[in-house]
Amino acid sequence: MRLVLLSVLCHYGAVVFSQSSVVNFYVATESPIAKAGLLANIGPSGSKSSGAKAGLVIASPSTTNPDYLFTWTRDSALVFKTIIDQFTGGQDTTLRPLIDLYVTAQAALQQVSNPSGTVLTGGLAEPKFNIDGTAFTGPWGRPQRDGPALRATAFITYANWLVANTNETFVTTTLWPIIKLDLDYVMNLWNQTTQVFLISTSALLTGVYDRFDLWEEVDSSSFFTTAAQHRALRQGSALATSIGQTSVVAGYNTQAGNILCFLQSYWNPSGGFITANTGGGRSGIDANTALASIHTFDPTAGCDATTFQPCSDKALSNLKVYVDSFRSIYGINSGISANAAVATGRYPEDVYFNGNPWYLTTAAVAEQLYDSLIVWKQQGSLTITTTSLAFFKQFMPSATTGTFASSTSAFTTLTSSVQTFADDFLSIVSKYTPSNGGFSEQFDKNAGTPLSAADLTWSYASALTVFSARQGFSSAVWGAKGLTVPSGACQSFVGPTVQVTFNVVATTQFGENIFLTGSLDALQNWSPTSAIPLNANNYPTWSVVVTLPANTDFQYKYIRVFNSVVTWESDPNNEQTTPASGSFVIDDTWR
Ligand SMILES: *[C@@H]1O[C@H](CO)[C@@H](O)[C@H](O)[C@H]1NC(C)=O
Ligand SMILES: *[C@@H]1O[C@H](CO)[C@@H](O)[C@H](O)[C@H]1NC(C)=O
Repeated sequence: MRLVLLSVLCHYGAVVFSQSSVVNFYVATESPIAKAGLLANIGPSGSKSSGAKAGLVIASPSTTNPDYLFTWTRDSALVFKTIIDQFTGGQDTTLRPLIDLYVTAQAALQQVSNPSGTVLTGGLAEPKFNIDGTAFTGPWGRPQRDGPALRATAFITYANWLVANTNETFVTTTLWPIIKLDLDYVMNLWNQTTQVFLISTSALLTGVYDRFDLWEEVDSSSFFTTAAQHRALRQGSALATSIGQTSVVAGYNTQAGNILCFLQSYWNPSGGFITANTGGGRSGIDANTALASIHTFDPTAGCDATTFQPCSDKALSNLKVYVDSFRSIYGINSGISANAAVATGRYPEDVYFNGNPWYLTTAAVAEQLYDSLIVWKQQGSLTITTTSLAFFKQFMPSATTGTFASSTSAFTTLTSSVQTFADDFLSIVSKYTPSNGGFSEQFDKNAGTPLSAADLTWSYASALTVFSARQGFSSAVWGAKGLTVPSGACQSFVGPTVQVTFNVVATTQFGENIFLTGSLDALQNWSPTSAIPLNANNYPTWSVVVTLPANTDFQYKYIRVFNSVVTWESDPNNEQTTPASGSFVIDDTWR
């Protein structure tokens, strides 16, 4: 009897202690490797980034299959946000000179004209540049509108520290002009529907004209991008107020309210998940959502669902749906019970390198859970709603809705289960980390071996942020607390419309058709492939009636399509403004 009891105790002890001590050991050994791996990829003196301009982050030293030896605005901002958090949080006070190099490098990069435009016509959302700081002119999914927002957030974090440390001068003279360019871009162009977006015909013809999600694949609105834009404008307006740049505050706040409204539209109540991308023909289940949650974490906002905080019922429900979507599609996940941690990837339909788990997405799941634990412990309670019930039932089948104080056994059981669950995701990252501690982008879904780009800088940053969250560190507050969607914010999207008739005189050959596309959603955002067909009932006049927003400037062109070959009208774009109400007829002749 005594022997049996002892073995039960030992077994129990072994499970609990070995699991968390394995993770402790992993965190302790991997932290310096991840930090060194990240720093090696930053110019000018990073050991794996020779040729990179000072302050520029290479995505990976990999030059073939895939070639990632470029600097991405998004990756760089996420990497430097990690560095800035370590510096401003006092974890590493030696990083300031590197941060200052990043400032100088980005100020220069903002001014580089590129295929997305110039600094004032859209160039800020160019996703990637050559590592010497020149424009990358090849075809790409551009623009990507999270870049300016993420870069602004990184700089604002630094700026807030400088203001608090008696160096407002540097903020006003150097940082603010950089931040303002990015925020003005977000304010003006976050939603194409409300703005004319000027693009070149050459960009149109190569099909690289629309906004793209963070995986650079889907040309539709993306939850991650919208969440990052919202955060940036909120922080920007607070910084502007604190340094007396008050002229921008009203504009930033208004658009932040509109974006917060739009953010709500990604929630899919019947599926219990966030539709990460509103287009693209996918389920919309995507790591983009967990990444958005951890990158917009504000520990003072509690479990607020309006900003999809990590512990909000919506974000937790979404996390379960996201994680579960990988259980049956990766060989390395087979045999793992339905409520245990598994390796996760970008989205279940992924076919890049045949679709595999990624280190940074699996780490993001753990980080969202650690962030949640920080808040539950801080507020001394945990709330289960009908939305989050399925998430909690994974750990406690008897869980019910309600608020559970830290003195209750439900709180104890659930928080310790979530801690274990989070550690298990890190154990998976650990299990598939090669012995040298290096992180590539992916690991093989069947063999578990590293795959795709080696030494991915973002993978290293994701390790540092998840380790820091596990230790209970949270990054700086950004103003998410108590936010609500302002009344009237959502109406700005569904304002009055007018019926616009487009007539164009165009002689065509048999089998040739005329289409219309232009700068508004209703005009298919310059897409030649989804352009609007005109009818030839009154040939040679081609016609169509389209519903457009009232009082709106827009640009457009007609295209001819013959045997799938697209011919655009010659430049410049046609331009019109819709009236306040009623109908409107436009008579054109093909040019
Ligand atoms: C303010 O910060 C900048 C950037 O780190 C630095 O170059 C400058 O010397 C600082 N000025 C003061 C007065 O501390
Ligand atoms: C702009 O807002 C409308 C209405 O909410 C939405 O349908 C559209 O997709 C948004 N566009 C972008 C680029 O986010």
